[in-house]
Amino acid sequence: MAFSKDFLWGGATAANQVEGGVLEAGRGLSNIDVLPFGPDRLAVQKGELKMLDWQEGYYYPAKEAIDMYHHYKEDIKLFAEMGFKVFRMSLSWSRIFPTGEEETANEAGLKFYDDIFDELKKYQIEPLVTIAHFDVPIHLVKKYGGWRNRKLVDLYLRYAQTVLTRYQGKVRYWITINEINVLVHQPFVGGGIVFEETDNRQEVIYQAAHHQLVASALVTKAAHEIDKNNRVGCMLAGGSHYPYTCRPEDYQEAIKRDREGYFFIDVQARGKYPNYALKKFEREKLTIVMAPQDEAILAASPVDFVTFSYYCSRTVSAHPEDSEQATGNIIPSIKNDYLKSSEWGWQIDPLGLRNSLNQLYDRYQKPLFIVENGVGAIDQPDETGFIDDEYRIEYLREHIKAMKAAIEIDGVELLGYTSWGCIDLIAASTGQMSKRYGYIYVDRDDLGNGSLKRSKKKSFYWYQRVIHSNGEKLDSKSLSIKETVRV
Ligand code: BG6
Repeated sequence: MAFSKDFLWGGATAANQVEGGVLEAGRGLSNIDVLPFGPDRLAVQKGELKMLDWQEGYYYPAKEAIDMYHHYKEDIKLFAEMGFKVFRMSLSWSRIFPTGEEETANEAGLKFYDDIFDELKKYQIEPLVTIAHFDVPIHLVKKYGGWRNRKLVDLYLRYAQTVLTRYQGKVRYWITINEINVLVHQPFVGGGIVFEETDNRQEVIYQAAHHQLVASALVTKAAHEIDKNNRVGCMLAGGSHYPYTCRPEDYQEAIKRDREGYFFIDVQARGKYPNYALKKFEREKLTIVMAPQDEAILAASPVDFVTFSYYCSRTVSAHPEDSEQATGNIIPSIKNDYLKSSEWGWQIDPLGLRNSLNQLYDRYQKPLFIVENGVGAIDQPDETGFIDDEYRIEYLREHIKAMKAAIEIDGVELLGYTSWGCIDLIAASTGQMSKRYGYIYVDRDDLGNGSLKRSKKKSFYWYQRVIHSNGEKLDSKSLSIKETVRV
């Protein structure tokens, strides 16, 4: 059997993409709440367009999202019905510290997550908690410029210590910062950064990165001190780069581009800056201010495990002008002629997942956890409202096979698998509801119309059986549509 008996099967979400209730019970606004739907979204995400409040004439999908704030009991019950062993979720920083600067936490915010953890416990579902998933209180963006300011290290640490203490015994698996390398590509999303004209952008990004890396190490240390049972992971937006051809310069380009992401994990998993990064700072004359104690902080607290998201692989060329661009999860890629693409142009590559698992395991020799994987697709309910999402099943099945091979054949140590968007949610990139990942359909459209009613797709029954058979039964042939499958 490839999967150990305690392999953690489950699903993943993020607070801003599911909760809604953005002003409930004293919550403050965060960077992600002010991402508008529509053509201006990308410029805001990149920190190129300043939009720090809700503005007339825009629709903001995070405001209500799928209203898990009020539906969490129903949703967790459905996760339990699928047999989830783990549920990956994030805490909303501004629900707990509305401005990020309060001396004491917002009790109503803390209580909300207590209730969620209690509900999960009822079904013996282990929470896997991301402390910050694209999340900076907007007040900290306005006052300090987000993570570009070292002040964020202390404020984030205080927030993290508060939740680590409060949820001691309820939560054991923690992730410090979601897809930390997104900071390089979408600095507002990853770090609450809006660029000024005079900024040296690379310097701002890597200064913010340094702050996040120090903060992450301090939180790892705090987590271990607060409870020796805590396990802390870092999180990479994964999917490695293929060279477009076997020209050595294409291969070199692929190494270079992989390092843009590995840079963060190298520090978090190994406890020190890799030489290639220090050389980059020197070569590009980036002055990164580091406090004298930082080296020791980073060295003292490497993470316990490495997590990553995987949707697609990427392809690069030393001559990108010769090849067609593709779309992909945040990080750019050129088109790979050997792969099919999703409806959003993300290049589907199950073997790429096995490759990534191997690369990460070879590099860090730490247990891995796939905390996001899935395909965004348009679901069309039939006349009875049922969704036969065989395309989703096919994507997930092939990726699970690849992960099985990585365990069975390559000996990769894998703690678990939480597919992304186990319930339909707001897409981070586009803000769309129509880009669906879930096993559970949520009746809501891109502009917020709909009843929010939850219903089970075919993949719900399929995943239920995958979990129940501990990854052995992956086919969907014998699944009878519209009936609960006997597992
Ligand atoms: C990851 C994020 O980048 O990809 C998630 O951690 C996000 O928040 C997911 O939702 C899928 O991307 P999208 O844009 O399809 O939602």
